[in-house]
Amino acid sequence: MIIRPRRLRRNAIVRNMVAETRLSRDMLVYPYFVMPGEGIKHEIEAMPGIYHFSVDTLIEDVKIGLNLGIDKVLLFGVGEEKTEDASSCYHNNSIVVTAIKALKKEFQDRIFIITDICACAYTTHGHCGVLRDGYVQNDETVEVLAKMALSHAQAGADMVAPSDMMDGRVAGIRNLLDDSGFEQVGIMSYSVKFASAYYGPFREAADSSPSSGDRKAYQMDYRNSRESIREAQLDEDEGADVLMVKPALAYLDIIKEVKESSSLPLAAYNVSGEYSLVKMGARAGLIDEQQLVLENMYAFARAGADIIITYHARDLVEKGWLS
Ligand code: PBG
Ligand code: ZN
Repeated sequence: MIIRPRRLRRNAIVRNMVAETRLSRDMLVYPYFVMPGEGIKHEIEAMPGIYHFSVDTLIEDVKIGLNLGIDKVLLFGVGEEKTEDASSCYHNNSIVVTAIKALKKEFQDRIFIITDICACAYTTHGHCGVLRDGYVQNDETVEVLAKMALSHAQAGADMVAPSDMMDGRVAGIRNLLDDSGFEQVGIMSYSVKFASAYYGPFREAADSSPSSGDRKAYQMDYRNSRESIREAQLDEDEGADVLMVKPALAYLDIIKEVKESSSLPLAAYNVSGEYSLVKMGARAGLIDEQQLVLENMYAFARAGADIIITYHARDLVEKGWLS
């Protein structure tokens, strides 16, 4: 036998030399849930280690993260007034707007702020847009989302991330931002987002479950793969700066396909259900949390993710798992 692959696995030094995939904290984006109030830091029951913050405690927490190299955050607003038409999502005194302003005042451009753009946490019915006759109205919703994106841009957001899955929303947002002088604000589009049971814990955290029906009339059907290429291409054509696949773990094939079909940077969203299952499994003593988290992170990177949005980001840097 002259060929022995095990020669390159003999010890950690040689394994590290030949490793095909590298992971860096620069790839990580950390999500935050921010709500009105003061002095709030409540752990979310369904997501151990993840909290609801008010703006003051958010700043304290971001400061700690920044010192560890977490300089990209994804903001979700919670606890805002819910209306039939989702108009509370684009008020210029919304909780997300307040949080952006406070973060930029405190950290200026040391922090890169991405904001989730969707109506579901702001509607009485919990759907991701304007609901009429049991159907989420596409074009009307795009107008609402563009206004929401504009309010975040005006507050100082660096990038907006539409997660609603309406058709044409990237173009709608891009046009309004450009017309308003915000051509430097980027769009990270949740391009390939499947209707998934993995969002369960998030919907508890964001109080954004649809009160009737599901999201299958706008989010993608997980039986489809080629449709991912189509969705990604549309967003690229409409001016997206970064594409995203979501969820991540059960969709590694999709990450790989989208990566191969586009030259845009690609983000993988390691969603709430994926996170909580790992946390609960570790708590039950079933698996080694550090080893499992690293295995998952490397899987996303190996499949082609340039950016990983993950609730594990803080543990990865704080506990030194990346080194
Ligand atoms: C809002 C939104 C959701 C997530 C991100 N933005 C929930 C949903 O679409 O139902 C999921 C994030 C996660 O599960 O971590 N549309
Ligand atoms: Zn939504």
